[in-house]
Amino acid sequence: MRIVALVSGRGSNLQAILDAVADGAVPAELAAVVSNVPGAYALERAARSGVPTAVLRHRNFPDRAAYDAALAELIDGYRPDLVVLAGFMRLLTPAFVARYHGRLVNIHPSLLPAFPGLHTHRRALEQGVKLHGATVHFVSEDVDAGPIIIQAAVPVLDDDTPESLAERVLAQEHRIYPQALAWIGQGLVRLEGTRVRFARPLEADCALIWPPSTIAAPVR
Ligand code: GRF
Repeated sequence: MRIVALVSGRGSNLQAILDAVADGAVPAELAAVVSNVPGAYALERAARSGVPTAVLRHRNFPDRAAYDAALAELIDGYRPDLVVLAGFMRLLTPAFVARYHGRLVNIHPSLLPAFPGLHTHRRALEQGVKLHGATVHFVSEDVDAGPIIIQAAVPVLDDDTPESLAERVLAQEHRIYPQALAWIGQGLVRLEGTRVRFARPLEADCALIWPPSTIAAPVR
């Protein structure tokens, strides 16, 4: 599976993917890392792993459609099976999303469909949710929406700040993004309308309840 990753910033998720590819956990090859921001630290991480990099600045284009068309042309030159958004901080046009239907994935720092958009950790604290988390999903036209592949939930603690919560979520992002890519690479992920299903049953008998429940589970 050939992957092209799109980035804009520090690239910690990219690093988790690079590491998982290097140790064989994700059966894939990073064909290229493309950034819209010159000097993004993610580019350095890619170069360090010997992955080709490219920069396509959005400033040089008259509008979103022109940028996305050029971006698609650049991406297609690397013949990817999968396009991976790893902290790519741009909205994508419907034409771009349609072109990569079923081949475009994203990670978002919330339990979607809660908190699409920016400042998810601050908003989670404001809303008082007890569980927060991260989601890997196929990209559809709406922002931070599309069939969900995997989610990780973390507890929200009384003394959390947006920063401490972000850190707890990020640690899980670094686990679930490589996991999602591994499943896709293994051919286990099936897209069925708005849902993702797996080619074999994945079962675990567990639940995350926060605060921890003290009432014993009913006997079955
Ligand atoms: C992550 O929180 C990711 O979920 C969001 O943007 C952030 C990117 O961080 N889409 P990094 O560049 O992967 O470190």
